[in-house]
Amino acid sequence: MEYLKLNNGVQMPMLGFGTFLLSGEVCENAVAAAIDAGYRLIDTAEAYGNEEAVGNGIARSGIDRKELFLVTKVNYKSYENARAAVEQSLKNLQTDYIDLLLLHWPFANYYAAWRELEKLYAEGKIRAIGVSNFEPAQLVDLIAYNKVVPVVDQIETNLYCQRAEERKWLDKKAVAHMAYAPLGQGNRNEMYAEPAVCALAGKYHKTAAQILLRFLTQKGVIVIPRSTKPEHIRENFAIFDFALTDEEMAQLAALDQKTAFVGNPNTPELVEMSLTW
Ligand SMILES: NC(=O)c1ccc[n+]([C@@H]2O[C@H](COP(=O)([O-])OP(=O)(O)OC[C@H]3O[C@@H](n4cnc5c(N)ncnc54)[C@H](OP(=O)(O)O)[C@@H]3O)[C@@H](O)[C@H]2O)c1
Repeated sequence: MEYLKLNNGVQMPMLGFGTFLLSGEVCENAVAAAIDAGYRLIDTAEAYGNEEAVGNGIARSGIDRKELFLVTKVNYKSYENARAAVEQSLKNLQTDYIDLLLLHWPFANYYAAWRELEKLYAEGKIRAIGVSNFEPAQLVDLIAYNKVVPVVDQIETNLYCQRAEERKWLDKKAVAHMAYAPLGQGNRNEMYAEPAVCALAGKYHKTAAQILLRFLTQKGVIVIPRSTKPEHIRENFAIFDFALTDEEMAQLAALDQKTAFVGNPNTPELVEMSLTW
C-alpha cells in the first residue's frame, strides 16, 4: 500500500474500497472480502444507507479497528443536525471514531455542518474532515471563511474526467484529490477498450482496470473502486507493483474528455434535482 500525508499530518491509504449501491449481505460480503484482500480504507456514506452493513462486514473480518481507515459522509439533508448524524454513523459503523468525515455535497446549509465537523474534529471523534463534490470556488470560499482546511475533496475522477483545472486549486490549497467513480461507475466502459490502455495492459501483464487505477494513483489521486466480485476486488488491489513511464502517463492524460458523468454540482439543474434525492 502507498500512503498520502494529509494536510493535518494523518497518513491515508491511496487505495480503498467503495460501497455505493451495496447493501445488506452483499455489502457485508464485499467489505469482508476487501479486508481479506488487504484493503484498509473503506468508503461509505450516511446517504448510502449501508453503514450498518459496512460495520457488520468489518466486525466479521475480525480486523483490529486501528488498522482501518474509515471514511463516511454527512448527507446534505442532515446538515442542520450534523452532530446527530455523525453520532448515528459511529453507532452504525460500531466504532468510537471516524478517520475521515466528509460533507457529501455542497447543497443546503453546508457552512453549519462544516462548523459542527470542526468541533467534532477538535473533540477527537474524527481524525480528519473534508468535502466531496465541491467545485474550486466553493472550496476556496469554505477555506477562506472557516478555521480548518478540508484534507480532501472527493470528486468524480477517471480517465475521461481527470480534473486538471480542479487539481490546480486542490494543490494550491493543500487539499488532497480523492477520486470517486475511478472506473467510471460502470457507465463509461469504453475506457477499458481504449487502445492505449489495452497496450499498457499487455506490456505490464495487467488488466485495463489496473492500468486505469494505477494511472490515477500515480498522479497522486486516492482511489476507491467498488466491486462485488472477489476477483475484481483482488485485481483492483494489485496496482502498486508496477509503474507507468512519464510518456505513458502523458498518453493517458491526453485521453481526458473533461466530462463528468454524475454531474457538475454548480449547475442549477443538479441543485434542483437534489430536492428529489
Ligand atoms: N462522493 C460522492 O458523491 C460519490 C459518488 C459516487 C461514488 N462514491 C464513492 O466512490 C466509490 C467508487 O465509485 P463507484 O462505485 O460509483 O464506481 P466505480 O468504482 O468507478 O465502478 C464500479 C463498477 O466497476 C465495476 N468494476 C470494478 N472493478 C472492476 C474490474 N476490475 N473490472 C471490470 N469492472 C470492474 C463494478 O462491477 P463489479 O461489481 O461487477 O466488479 C461496478 O459496476 C463508490 O463505491 C463510493 O464509495 C462517492
